[in-house]
Amino acid sequence: MQQFGSLLSEEAGRAFAAAGYDPSLGKVQVSARPDLCEYQCNGAMAGAKQYHKAPAVIAGEVAAFLEKSGAFSEVTVVNPGFINLCVDEEFLKNYLSEMAGTERFGAAGAKNPKTVVLDYGGPNVAKPLHVGHLRSAVIGEAIKRIIRFHGDKVIGDIHMGDWGLQMGLVITELRHRYPELPYFDDAFEGEYPKEAPVTVSELEEIYPFASAKSKEDADYYAEAMENTHLLQEGKRGYRALWEHIINASVTDMKRNYDHLDVSFDLWNGESTVNDIIPEMVRGMRESGIAYESDGALVVDVAKPEDAKEIPPCMILKSDGAALYTTTDLATIVDREKRFSPDEIIYVTDKRQELHFKQVFRAAEKCGLVKPGTKLCHIGFGTMNGRDGKPFKTREGGVMRLETLIKDINDEMRRKIQTNPDITEKEADAIASQVALAALKYGDLSNQASKDYVFDIDRFTSFEGNTGPYILYTMVRIKSILARYRAQEGKDPASLDIRPARSTAEKNLMRSIAGFSQVMDNAYEDLAPHRICAYIYELSNDFNSFYHETRILSEEDSDRKEGWIALLCLTLDILETCIGILGFSAPEKM
Ligand code: ARG
Repeated sequence: MQQFGSLLSEEAGRAFAAAGYDPSLGKVQVSARPDLCEYQCNGAMAGAKQYHKAPAVIAGEVAAFLEKSGAFSEVTVVNPGFINLCVDEEFLKNYLSEMAGTERFGAAGAKNPKTVVLDYGGPNVAKPLHVGHLRSAVIGEAIKRIIRFHGDKVIGDIHMGDWGLQMGLVITELRHRYPELPYFDDAFEGEYPKEAPVTVSELEEIYPFASAKSKEDADYYAEAMENTHLLQEGKRGYRALWEHIINASVTDMKRNYDHLDVSFDLWNGESTVNDIIPEMVRGMRESGIAYESDGALVVDVAKPEDAKEIPPCMILKSDGAALYTTTDLATIVDREKRFSPDEIIYVTDKRQELHFKQVFRAAEKCGLVKPGTKLCHIGFGTMNGRDGKPFKTREGGVMRLETLIKDINDEMRRKIQTNPDITEKEADAIASQVALAALKYGDLSNQASKDYVFDIDRFTSFEGNTGPYILYTMVRIKSILARYRAQEGKDPASLDIRPARSTAEKNLMRSIAGFSQVMDNAYEDLAPHRICAYIYELSNDFNSFYHETRILSEEDSDRKEGWIALLCLTLDILETCIGILGFSAPEKM
């Protein structure tokens, strides 16, 4: 199905051609002056130069054909040569009926589906998930669903931080606390225990403790470095201990991501590629592209056109240790080999922009990806508190993700009134469902690259541009449909939309018609905020229609059926959109 806007443009293009002008002048767009008209075409203005004619003359000639096209109910030429348009009600209705019966409501599917690896989440083992990981998970999940909706194949990889110094620090501290454990006994040859020697909460206490200690105590730091090295070399006891730590951490992460309705196809981490690093490095060295500089191995990635200097990408430190860049490069090699993706997309804090620029350029220069593979970094801004500074706990510490989710749940629970139709238990479930929408919509409705203020009061409000407002609108539609079903005993999905008879009804219909264009734009730009903006507008249009229309008490059953069909489609579209954003609506609230 064609986008509604391009269908209108095609009609206008035909009118231009019929009047003897270039059909590409017939671009129709949504009116900048909705008080005057619904759509406008400024092609006559552009054509004036080309044809050395007054724009009003061209517009007049074209308008004569537009009036006959059947797509427009009103065509007005306005000085100096604008063409103002209102769409024909029957034409609009036909478009919506076709949408209702078409897969993806007519949004274009991928002609040649791509394979995309999406790297998001990025939590670190043994460290609690904090709000910084929230954005990557929420934005990444929405982007994954946008790409999937389009029809491409997406492999979502969590890419855990499960390697490197952080693991060495935890092992070092465990060794200090529990030296008697078999993992630290070099003579031990038996089987290690099945049970982990530590709990997740202990791990979460250990990591910051060890990290702080390593900064004050040089010997401790050296020990942690050495232990990191031993782990990476494959020391048996350390590997066994490391596996316990990973398992405990992963169980905890899965629980957290489940709450967020975020899921991954791959649970790989930095450690996954440890064994392929030596070969990759050898290749980079042999090609001469990687070279020694002050003992370290580096690749020059600067380009003459760079406005800011891009420092060389470091592959190995002078002590031979691998870095964050090294594991990211090796992960590219691994992904290339396993999936041969057309595109790899990373969703992280935008402060990692330079890192990814270096990694991408080094990967391309060293031929780690086939030519044409797109490497793309989506950097998001910081989530701030109401004071405009990065979001912290009241005590000024890093806010744990769990705490944040609990706070928003509690606030939502306060706002969901229990009434005779809703039991306490139902209210709890509804509150967490709506809270998730509040949290995700609060994040996704901002352009990802921008910082935003996390404001519980605003996010949980039922009014304004919020998740709960969207859900409230949907619940309203659901309840009307349920009452209609009970009243008439008819399935709303079997009814047909009728041509609009009021402005509010027509506005709602025009909003719906814009769906496929929004989805295509959201896919092109990997921009969930476009979908948020769309459903906010759609909800507003629905509510305006709802407030001036007495739907269920309408006596004319033909009209009533048309409205019910329209409500059905509105709900389906909203349902699809919030599903892509990664949340859902309750039956009542
Ligand atoms: N673990 C990293 C962090 O917490 C994020 C990982 C992002 N993905 C990647 N391939 N580098 O900052």
